[in-house]
Amino acid sequence: MPSRVYATCHIGDGAFEVLRAHGYEVEVYPQSDPPPKTLILEKVRTGIDGLITTLRDPIDAEVFEAGKGTLKVVAQLAVGFDNISRADANRYGIPFTNTADVLTEATAEFAFFIMGAAARKLWPSERLVRENRWGAWHPYLPMLGDEVTGKTVAIIGTGRIGLAMIKKCAGLDMNILCFDPAFQNTQYIEGIQEVMDLRHRHGIQKRATTIRYGVLAEVLAAADFVSVHVPLLREGESPTPTYHLFNETTLRQMKPTAYLINTSRGPVVDETALALALRERWIAGAALDVFEQEPLPTDSPLRDPAIEDRCRIFHHFASGTKETRLDVDPDIGMAGRCVQALRDVLEANYGGDFTKMPYVVNKE
Ligand code: GLV
Ligand code: GLV
Repeated sequence: MPSRVYATCHIGDGAFEVLRAHGYEVEVYPQSDPPPKTLILEKVRTGIDGLITTLRDPIDAEVFEAGKGTLKVVAQLAVGFDNISRADANRYGIPFTNTADVLTEATAEFAFFIMGAAARKLWPSERLVRENRWGAWHPYLPMLGDEVTGKTVAIIGTGRIGLAMIKKCAGLDMNILCFDPAFQNTQYIEGIQEVMDLRHRHGIQKRATTIRYGVLAEVLAAADFVSVHVPLLREGESPTPTYHLFNETTLRQMKPTAYLINTSRGPVVDETALALALRERWIAGAALDVFEQEPLPTDSPLRDPAIEDRCRIFHHFASGTKETRLDVDPDIGMAGRCVQALRDVLEANYGGDFTKMPYVVNKE
């Protein structure tokens, strides 16, 4: 009997063709809005073998219970997996997978670009033109931007995406400060080593750029740009939670001329505190691709017209390139990696040993 797979959203025809070509029966939720939880449960209860999910689908004990005895894998189309209860997956013995690596460069370049867009006032500039307020050229002193080249950037979280962001910032001869909440003692040293290796590989040491780790308050106080690249970890999920890592206290530690860039997860930033920080100008601006609640509610404090020119907002789109989202090669695209990860489990590749499967997250 062919394996049956349910996908909670369309991830590209190519990926589903790969599955069908290997004998899978694939059903896809046809709408772009997420399927209701009741529908996911219903589908899982029909005895599907694999479930393809995205970051908007809550995957918890109810789902694993519904799939007891039949569901064998949850394959998430994202690197982040805070929507999946790891504890429940482990309790039910279900492996879940993610699409790390393939979206690293796309996400980092997006962070880099929106950092520049915020600092160089691209939106106010475009709006001036669109609203026919562009008079004869003059120095436009009231709307000048902040130069990025040679400034100091704080990289908060130095996993794959944080390191890729460092490379891009080094291209602008930026000084680089790092803070990683997950690093303690020996990991801290390894993290520094990894950054040093990166520096060497990319010839960064020949440039003006310096890279070093520091404690959060020190790093924030020195940075002109603060770019967040940590996973969302709530209280109790990790000894170093990242929920509201950016709050009234830490936002006040930033320079009034500094910008906050977030392409990680919305709840890492307390948005009420951030809106206040922008209104009262504790910081100069923010560029955000992720939000505490997505889509961003109509009454979000971040939509306050008073802060509009200082607050760039995007629709959780950092990995959104054709290459990264669609490619069916598991070393290039999220779609390819997602279906390969699912197949590894369902086809018992690697001798059926989850701990050896490269894309399984909960190897424990
Ligand atoms: C997107 O946010 C992802 O985690 O891949
Ligand atoms: C963020 O993606 C991290 O791995 O720190």
